[in-house]
Amino acid sequence: MRNIIAANWEMNFSIQEAESTAKDMVKKIKKSPADILVCASFVHLDRLSKIFKNSIIKLGAQNMHFEEKGAFTGETSPVMLKSVNCEYVILGHSERRHIFKEDDGFINKKVKSALTHGLTPILCVGETLDERNSGQAFDVVSRQIKKGFESLLDTSDVIIAYEPVWAIGTGVAADIETISEMHDFIRSMVKNSPILYGGSVKPKNAEELSQIENVDGFLVGGASLKAEDFKDIIEKFIKIRWG
Ligand code: PGA
Repeated sequence: MRNIIAANWEMNFSIQEAESTAKDMVKKIKKSPADILVCASFVHLDRLSKIFKNSIIKLGAQNMHFEEKGAFTGETSPVMLKSVNCEYVILGHSERRHIFKEDDGFINKKVKSALTHGLTPILCVGETLDERNSGQAFDVVSRQIKKGFESLLDTSDVIIAYEPVWAIGTGVAADIETISEMHDFIRSMVKNSPILYGGSVKPKNAEELSQIENVDGFLVGGASLKAEDFKDIIEKFIKIRWG
């Protein structure tokens, strides 16, 4: 299975800060058997594509609209993303689902559009704390994947990121057993998509998390804002997986 470690910078950094962090990453992250990518704000993408051009770091966006163009004020299209050499796009992040009320059908349209335009979607799934406490975690994740994948003929180009909502940005990742169970469950549903874990991945828990079977990489938020921390997470994953 392909391995990927992705940074999600969320809504952080001025263009100057983004540039200097990206340059720092290029200096520090020289080779990796896992794919490495940075998903940044639309405002940063064009400049970052130039900084990452001769490096191993690939570029991703954090959202997109499914239409190519038109009267969708404030939106960004897949064609626009391709025009700045963006290769990946995060879709259905829990913040998009919960704050901006994106539903499974809307996200499915984006997944299909990304694939049509040659972008690799990173489909985020994950339950809230209430859903977990009421025993619905597996149903929620299963629905998000089934609906997110609806009418796709080939899913091998879609990356899944399991991010329990209650572990995102809290500083406390889900425990090993919870992650392991959910990743095994997702693997039983989807045979050929890499499955990343996201939610408070840090240098200090990266080694432990890297040992979980069916965790094919990470989606890293807060800890990806410092090149040194992101590099540390990557190195720990590589050490556990490749020795
Ligand atoms: P976190 O964020 O690593 O800060 O928990 C993860 C994400 O937003 O994808």
